[in-house]
Amino acid sequence: LGLPTPATLSVPDLCCGNNSESPLFQCVLTGRWINDLGSNMTIGALNGKGEFSGSYHTAVTATSNKILLSPLHGSQHHTNQQSQPTFGFTVNWKFSESVTVFTGQCFVDEYGKEILKTMWLLRSRVNSIKDDWKATMVGMNVFTRLQSQE
Ligand code: BTN
Repeated sequence: LGLPTPATLSVPDLCCGNNSESPLFQCVLTGRWINDLGSNMTIGALNGKGEFSGSYHTAVTATSNKILLSPLHGSQHHTNQQSQPTFGFTVNWKFSESVTVFTGQCFVDEYGKEILKTMWLLRSRVNSIKDDWKATMVGMNVFTRLQSQE
């Protein structure tokens, strides 16, 4: 009688990729994120201490090397679901001798969309202490949650 059957429900009907309808899960970092450069990261389940692991696929590199998926490890503060927690994580790049640390805070905007505002330090390896002064870059990235496909 015109009611949708399960077969006619679209994927977005079945999921809640931005967590806007699941405030209990908002700002739990687990999931897939994309930033303003087009880089993607996937964060796994948080353990009881708020610690997590994941993987990072950067869209850009300061090197001429071929970009490879790289591991990340971090933690987020344990607070209640509405409290817009701070977090930090480290990416150990598998295609360069560099490390990036990100620190930031998860915000929920007026539409219920999660936004990660971060700053980062990218440390490159240099051959000599004389070159230490030019070994660190700093910047900002904004991440939003990628829509879940299942
Ligand atoms: C390297 O070039 O040695 C490793 C890749 C660095 C990518 C940086 S990390 C900060 C910024 N945000 C990104 O998503 N990618 C770049």
